[in-house]
Amino acid sequence: MGDPLILGIETSCDETAAAVLRGRAILSSIIASQIDVHREFGGVVPELASRHHLEKIDLVIDLALRRAGIALSDVQAVAVTYGPGLVGSLLVGLQAAKALAYVQRIPLIAVNHLEGHLRSIWLEHGEVPTPVVSLVASGGHTALYLSPSEETIVPLARTRDDAAGEAFDKVAKLLGLGYPGGPLVDRLAPTGDPTAVRLAPPRMSDGSLDFSFSGFKTAVLRHAQGSGLARAYPAGTPDQATRDLLASFQQAVVEFLVDRVMTVARREKVRSIGLSGGVACNSLLRARVAAEAEAAGLRSFVVSRSLAVDNAAMIAFAGMRRLERGEVADLAQNAEPGLEL
Ligand code: KG4
Ligand code: ZN
Repeated sequence: MGDPLILGIETSCDETAAAVLRGRAILSSIIASQIDVHREFGGVVPELASRHHLEKIDLVIDLALRRAGIALSDVQAVAVTYGPGLVGSLLVGLQAAKALAYVQRIPLIAVNHLEGHLRSIWLEHGEVPTPVVSLVASGGHTALYLSPSEETIVPLARTRDDAAGEAFDKVAKLLGLGYPGGPLVDRLAPTGDPTAVRLAPPRMSDGSLDFSFSGFKTAVLRHAQGSGLARAYPAGTPDQATRDLLASFQQAVVEFLVDRVMTVARREKVRSIGLSGGVACNSLLRARVAAEAEAAGLRSFVVSRSLAVDNAAMIAFAGMRRLERGEVADLAQNAEPGLEL
């Protein structure tokens, strides 16, 4: 018997997503983004997010099935994100998945969103030489994991305050650039001088590998206020000094991330480096991870942009792995907003 047809559902934040997978083959992957809904508020508004998930979920699932060219009755298991995320948003996807599992009498698989991001590397690349150190960096999370083998996930470090993507978003917001900040900074930074402003990485007094990004944000704010930059450009292209600040910020954050990854890579004598999550879309980070890996004689697995942002294909894939191990949920499964990996 071949791989089962799995429907994945993801609604943990501001993307309503559904995908159909057979093994590593993505038969369809639909993502309805709410960016336009939240943009005017400069961030995700939880109440609006759940309401929009509710409006879109049936359509998105239906479209995923149609694009995959299958009927609902063909689906053999349904995998859904149950945490971490916004509770109201998670519940929409979870209820939809439970209803489908119940009506179709198929297994329900509860998937950790972070496991989905981590597994996206295997979904895209298949075999990944282990041990592998994986950086998962998104708008809600920033963490390092070590996988001595494909099945094992050992958490090594996490952020103590903001997530990396959140830092990009907040810096863009405080400079009046718009939302979400990551793609904007990515686009503007190459037009600035990354050596213009020195932004020191945080030092962990206990020698931990944990991340911290709030210091970068505060330093940018102080610099912007000191030089009269803050919110000076409500519309249009920011001036050279602002672009220099953005370039310096991006460089500091990327080098901090790369430094952590390479420290673990050396310490754990890994063979591969994985990069996933929304911040993996960042052009400088992608280039730097690939370059450092190559210089160290390691393989790098940087997830492509369509699988880096929140999507349901990664959830279906992580779900398939769980199904293979017999890890099936029941209809009493609840959402866990604070779930860790
Ligand atoms: O994984 P994701 O879609 O959602 C979460 O699970 O949070 O990540 C979204 C985050 C946002 O903070 C966004 O600003 C950031 O990823 N992001 C980027 C880029 N594209 C998206 N950050 C830096 N550079 C980018 N090109
Ligand atoms: Zn995510």
